[in-house]
Amino acid sequence: MSPAPASVSKPSASAAATSNTQPAEIFKVVSPNVVYSEEEIRSTYTYRDVKVSKPDTPGAPLQVTPVETTYQFKLDKKVPKVGLMLVGWGGNNGSTLTASIIANRQNISWRTKDGVQQPNYIGSLTQSSTLRLGSDAETGADVHIPFNQILPMAQPNDLVLGGWDISAADLGSAMERARVLEWDLQRQVLDQMKELKPLPAVYYPDFIAANQEARADNVLPGTDKQAHVDEIRKNIRDFKEANGLERVIVLWTANTERFAEIIPGVNDTASNLLGSIKSSHSEIAPSTVFAVASILEGSPFINGSPQNTFVPGLIALASEHKVHIGGDDFKSGQTKIKSVLVDFLVSAGLKPISITSYNHLGNNDGKNLSAPEQFRSKEISKSNVVDDMVASNDILYKKGEHPDHVVVIKYVPAVGDSKRALDEYVSEIFMGGRNTISLYNVCEDSLLASPLILDLAILTELMTRIEYKTGDMSEYAPFHSVLSILSYLLKAPAVPPGTPVVNALAKQRSAMENIFRACIGLPPQSDMMLETRFPSMDTLIASSAAAIVTRLIVYPLDSLKVRVQNSTTPGSRSMLSVLRTTRIHSLYNGIGITLALSTPGLALYLSTYENAKQELSTLFYADGHAREHVIVHALAGTIAECVSGVFWTPMEVIKSKLQVDTAATSPKSTLNLIRHIYRQEGMRGFFRGYLVTLGVFVPQTVIYFTTYEQLKAVSKVHADVVPPFLGYLGSAGIASVFSSSVSNVTDVIKTRIQVSNSLHPEHNSLSSVGMDMYRSEGFRAFTRGMAARVVSIVPATMISMTIFELLKDWFRK
Ligand SMILES: NC(=O)c1ccc[n+]([C@@H]2O[C@H](COP(=O)([O-])OP(=O)(O)OC[C@H]3O[C@@H](n4cnc5c(N)ncnc54)[C@H](O)[C@@H]3O)[C@@H](O)[C@H]2O)c1
Repeated sequence: MSPAPASVSKPSASAAATSNTQPAEIFKVVSPNVVYSEEEIRSTYTYRDVKVSKPDTPGAPLQVTPVETTYQFKLDKKVPKVGLMLVGWGGNNGSTLTASIIANRQNISWRTKDGVQQPNYIGSLTQSSTLRLGSDAETGADVHIPFNQILPMAQPNDLVLGGWDISAADLGSAMERARVLEWDLQRQVLDQMKELKPLPAVYYPDFIAANQEARADNVLPGTDKQAHVDEIRKNIRDFKEANGLERVIVLWTANTERFAEIIPGVNDTASNLLGSIKSSHSEIAPSTVFAVASILEGSPFINGSPQNTFVPGLIALASEHKVHIGGDDFKSGQTKIKSVLVDFLVSAGLKPISITSYNHLGNNDGKNLSAPEQFRSKEISKSNVVDDMVASNDILYKKGEHPDHVVVIKYVPAVGDSKRALDEYVSEIFMGGRNTISLYNVCEDSLLASPLILDLAILTELMTRIEYKTGDMSEYAPFHSVLSILSYLLKAPAVPPGTPVVNALAKQRSAMENIFRACIGLPPQSDMMLETRFPSMDTLIASSAAAIVTRLIVYPLDSLKVRVQNSTTPGSRSMLSVLRTTRIHSLYNGIGITLALSTPGLALYLSTYENAKQELSTLFYADGHAREHVIVHALAGTIAECVSGVFWTPMEVIKSKLQVDTAATSPKSTLNLIRHIYRQEGMRGFFRGYLVTLGVFVPQTVIYFTTYEQLKAVSKVHADVVPPFLGYLGSAGIASVFSSSVSNVTDVIKTRIQVSNSLHPEHNSLSSVGMDMYRSEGFRAFTRGMAARVVSIVPATMISMTIFELLKDWFRK
């Protein structure tokens, strides 16, 4: 397969995207706190926290006060055309990312020994993870959406790539040199990659390992650091212009530098830093030169390596220019595990006492890190990752106490980009015991880091479009220049000066999620799930109320129906003729037992239906998303009918007998009747016709719910003209006319069975009773009582469903 050429507007310095693939909005927040316009989303958000004050008097309790702050957020909805300039573009990360984006953009698949592989963005938080939006209003199931749908974000395939490298190798040769991607993929993108050539970079040999010198054949001439800043600024401007970009992000994925010394007067303030660049001071590192140039061009800068690029003067400069910076050091493998595992151990009340990490790797990064000063940068970056977790638990750790933490990194060329990370966690457990966890983690370095680079660029760009306002601020302002929100992706998160560093991975992710939710006025994800922790009485109360009200209204009609269906005297087979010969209050015979049994019966029926619908909605879809379908409604109705039939059948048996039995010799009281049935037939007597009942009601329920749910959905779509009350009433009415007419045939037979003489069991089968009826009364026997049945069922269903649905809606609110 030969790939189509990418549209590259400036072949020597960029890989341009071919189109803008912004997906459509998939949800809208309905809240008075959120206002959508063509250009923006504005939200009002109440941030709730708790302030704890130490008491003046020793021994007095802490003063704990919940506090609230109102924030206004403003999000520019338009995703601009974004360029990503990588410093170290020709390295393993840079070349892997570039080739992967081309493969994704052009949907290039490749052969491996395991089969054909498709391109993807697995490992990217924004592209391959989801977040919980809320719970389904109907089923209560969690609703998840792709992470990148929570707010409008740039798409990786739309990014225009470019950058610098001290190595002149084109990106094709760099990709071959990296030995990361499969050969069949490299082969297919090679021609396009070869057209991409990194711009000459800033190289001060003192800052990276001496073993990198051989590849430094593409460097800016001279030692004038001001000239270097100016040249990098020009590169950014040219790149932006040549590719028609609205925003450029600059990201350092070049080799790890040694730490720069922080020297008062040199790099401690913004003006000192700029002055030191003018005088080409030796302690100004290449990464700081790139960062300064980016800031002065208004381009956010991300540092993916561990060195202290962000000296105090640089942070001050970024603040002055209101340009975002983020760092340090991609968190791709070992540290990610550490920030999960130690958080788990400490929060479980276990006490890690030693953490020992050995790494060996064989790529150019490993070669550079084999030099002591560069290793030291990495060691510092890796060493603080458990500090906040340890500090959070003064039951386990005394003030100043810390687990032993050792990090070793060795260069072993044979393993290439597949870094080996061996970790041992020793923890103190109950009663002086020891627990040792050993991990062996093969980290495909650049395949893990490349998706993080994408996420960093995408999230940083997003943050440039969000502003906030609070208290007496008259104008909206951007977030702090130091983007601590990126911490999830970084090993040694840079945070605004004087603010705490959070390393625990779960906290870092939920901070990001919740800030994005706040921008659209949604409450933070609390994971409390309170609605599931208490026995829910909602469905029970709603269905019980529906059952009682309905029965009181429609019971006399039902009695009438049964009498018509069982009438064998010619001339008394119409409702009117039966009414003429009946005392009205006798139509309430059996109401007591009906109420007693129908209330739990209907509650069981409706709650089984609701729960089955919810379970089946998730079960049916492999992606775990709850979605409703006509098959789900049919199956849920069947399950509800089978389960509730255990209640309905005895009730139907007793009710039918009471309703037809007007003779003086028959048992008068319900209790007497129950005793009578039990004495004559035992428990079986109450379940006579259970299967026949299912035979009648399963098809009826299936027809009913499938029709009802479709109609309800249509009425919801037209909620602006159809109020809920009418929607439920109408849907239930139409669905039940349909279902009760169709199922009248089997209902007539079932009624005959339930009131027939128990001493002749051969009369109890559906077919034999049906045949008997046909022989003696003809086909009309089966349509008898249809009008009465429809009249008795339809109002009952309309009333019960409407009360049930309205009460459910009310409880939900
Ligand atoms: N999983 C990971 O890959 C991972 C994780 C965390 C951090 N990092 C960091 O990311 C960086 C890149 O990793 P890599 O595997 O791609 O390394 P690499 O050695 O393959 O690539 C670095 C590139 O930077 C270039 N370079 C060096 N100094 C430069 C300068 N001053 N200006 C421009 N280019 C320069 C080199 O020529 C090289 O091509 C390293 O610092 C590494 O520590 C990587």
